[in-house]
Amino acid sequence: MLKKVLFVIALTLSITFASGTKHITYNQNAIQRQNKNVGLDLCPTCIRFAEESINVLLNLILDTGIIGSCGTLCQALATRTGSQILGTVCDLICDIIGIDEFIHILEKADLDPIWYCEMATMCPVNDHGDAKFSTFNIMPATGRQGTTFTIDFSYKTVNGTGTGELEIDIDTPDKIPLGTAFLWEAKKPGTYSEKITVKAQPDPQCDPTQGPCEQWLPGTYNVTVYLCNGECGSKHPHSSIYDVAKGSFMLTR
Ligand SMILES: *[C@@H]1O[C@H](CO)[C@@H](O)[C@H](O)[C@H]1NC(C)=O
Ligand SMILES: *[C@@H]1O[C@H](CO)[C@@H](O)[C@H](O)[C@H]1NC(C)=O
Repeated sequence: MLKKVLFVIALTLSITFASGTKHITYNQNAIQRQNKNVGLDLCPTCIRFAEESINVLLNLILDTGIIGSCGTLCQALATRTGSQILGTVCDLICDIIGIDEFIHILEKADLDPIWYCEMATMCPVNDHGDAKFSTFNIMPATGRQGTTFTIDFSYKTVNGTGTGELEIDIDTPDKIPLGTAFLWEAKKPGTYSEKITVKAQPDPQCDPTQGPCEQWLPGTYNVTVYLCNGECGSKHPHSSIYDVAKGSFMLTR
């Protein structure tokens, strides 16, 4: 009964969690994914949990040696983070895979949430997956500061894909790093399309004490999009880059 209740809570949470899952966080507010067609799925819930918890859990295990049971460890997580939700999702995953395995994969995850959730059996793995861009356009080609540029692309997968990431990197004239990555849930064979928007306007919420804020100076902005199995650049198993596409847009005065 309790397990069932936890599942329902986790599923409900996944709806709220799923829409914005991303973990590269530099000047990323400018970049938004348009079709957030994420289903009722434990995978995004787990990824979000892992992003927020892996580090804290590792510290808890190191500092306090709390490793007795799922209950003790997950309650300590809830207390340390002040989030009962994280504690609940922790219990859910830990109860399913067992405390020993839970800790074992935490220690091996090396802060890779996708690999972690694959090992926790919360996200599907596909080692025979593939994906190739079939179209890739950036519109408009040129615009003034304040323009929203749309990166519109489609891709085809013959064997389906594993749990992965869509990563967007933009080389800017002021050399300030700009990019983000979105959770890209495992896909069945087929052709899919995505729209990513980039608002070329200084972000009023960007805090310059946390890192440089993109100024959106006139010039050429080179865009690279990666379709990755697992986390882009991860050295873990079940990880690779399926395909890369490049394009650019220009800001005028
Ligand atoms: C698709 O799956 C088949 C069977 O597992 C495999 O032989 C083939 O290499 C895969 N294709 C790609 C593009 O990975
Ligand atoms: C964009 O790519 C072009 C051609 O490869 C290159 O000349 C230019 O320096 C690049 N711009 C930035 C901002 O990286």
